[in-house]
Amino acid sequence: MLTSCTSEMTPAGVSASHGNAHVADELHASLGAVEAWISPKFLYDSLGSKLFEAICELPEYYPTRTEAAIFERHGAEIARVAGKGATLIDLGAGNCAKAASLFPLLQPAQYVAIDISSEFLHDALGRLRQRFPQIAMEALGMDFSQQFALPQQVRAARRLFFYPGSSIGNFTPDEAEAFLRRLRAQCGNDGGILIGIDLAKDKAVLDAAYDDALGVTAAFNLNILRHVNTLLGADFDIRAWRHHGFYNAARSRVEMHLEAVRDQEVRWPGGARRFEAGDCIHTENSYKYQQADAVKLLERSGFEATRIWTDPQCPFAVIHAQAIAQ
Ligand code: TRP
Repeated sequence: MLTSCTSEMTPAGVSASHGNAHVADELHASLGAVEAWISPKFLYDSLGSKLFEAICELPEYYPTRTEAAIFERHGAEIARVAGKGATLIDLGAGNCAKAASLFPLLQPAQYVAIDISSEFLHDALGRLRQRFPQIAMEALGMDFSQQFALPQQVRAARRLFFYPGSSIGNFTPDEAEAFLRRLRAQCGNDGGILIGIDLAKDKAVLDAAYDDALGVTAAFNLNILRHVNTLLGADFDIRAWRHHGFYNAARSRVEMHLEAVRDQEVRWPGGARRFEAGDCIHTENSYKYQQADAVKLLERSGFEATRIWTDPQCPFAVIHAQAIAQ
């Protein structure tokens, strides 16, 4: 039944977007591709961000909890290695909770929160400013998965990119390298990265984490169609689609798809597509790394791992890496 969901597909995350004006063109192209796909960045409208927050509370979704436990257990040492007084740049900050949990130890000179879900981010940062009035903060609502330039108000000294939650796994390994290189280009020789990377583990654990019993992950994935209806003026009938999330061990990645439950045609201004029952739209990959490969990926991108913290029960790595001097 899942055959059409497991075939070769255009990697999610590759997109031609260079700003909001091109969102409709980008969606038109990806929905029209031989294997239809939707870029995972469209998962995160305001409702999507809230649903992802709910995913992080699910018993099946171990990454957030596992990573938080590592931060809690090793926070003092992480702060010693990463250093106090950095310019902390949070990539995909969401509700900013992960970074905020490190504030007391890291004591950043400036906190820069970046997220594509702009409204959600501004709300979160407003609350954070009240809790930590002594820390200078900036909220930047932008898509950092493409080329991006940090605006002037971001301090140049001691930039520490914070990239938790294994979001790096949502790029293909080649895209991940290109992305990390862009980060390297945007920090000086005194810069670094604090990154959370999920490691390969049991298929059963991964399958459950990406297809939970309550159906929150299903709602999160299906919400992308609602968002596309808004962005593109499409007429996806959400009830005619079903979520699939499963580990593809051969490719070391979890794949997220939406499967048509009946034959249908979807229309939008300037386009249309027929889907037959069983046809899939690919929405996201979540690559799972071996620890050594994660270190090599960082090295190829211009960062040298200085310290790695892991969870002995549930394989997950938090890595601090510093910019290799140029
Ligand atoms: N970055 C998250 C991850 O790869 C995103 C995510 C979690 C996700 N669950 C999902 C994306 C379900 C799509 C569908 O773990």
